[in-house]
Amino acid sequence: MAGPERSENPLSESPRRELAPPVPAEGDGGVFSQSWFPVCLSADLKPGSVVGAGFLGGRVVAFRGEGGGPARVVSAYCVHLGADLSVGEVVGEQLRCRFHGWRYGGDGRCAATGIGDPVPSRARLFRFPTVERYGIVWAFNGEEPLFDLPDLPHPEDELVVR
Ligand code: FES
Repeated sequence: MAGPERSENPLSESPRRELAPPVPAEGDGGVFSQSWFPVCLSADLKPGSVVGAGFLGGRVVAFRGEGGGPARVVSAYCVHLGADLSVGEVVGEQLRCRFHGWRYGGDGRCAATGIGDPVPSRARLFRFPTVERYGIVWAFNGEEPLFDLPDLPHPEDELVVR
């Protein structure tokens, strides 16, 4: 009668030990780092255009005023009745909702309603801190950036961004 098989490697039968809880993946449980995240390519954000993008488990829009100034990133849904502002239009330096014409400035504040009613004092989109580097529009997950976008150890003209 044969006895129980023995392993060649005595360590293979040792119970696996966890030294620390596993680090959750970005977005697990709806939690994201306070860091910079890419939103869209700068080349896709022409002057006077708006681009919608998934962001941190939700949605944002990036827009650029008709004058070609800095990119802005704000929450995507109009505070009036919730229309997706990625189907809106840029008028001057403001983003206009297609549904009833509310307008938002680059700081996310509602600047005007569609029919000229007084603007509700708390009517504003969340404005994400935004920078453009390496051909990408980046937004920081937070009200103010906790650090600058890190430098890459390569000249920008040697980078290929897709
Ligand atoms: S839903 Fe945007 S103005 Fe009404």
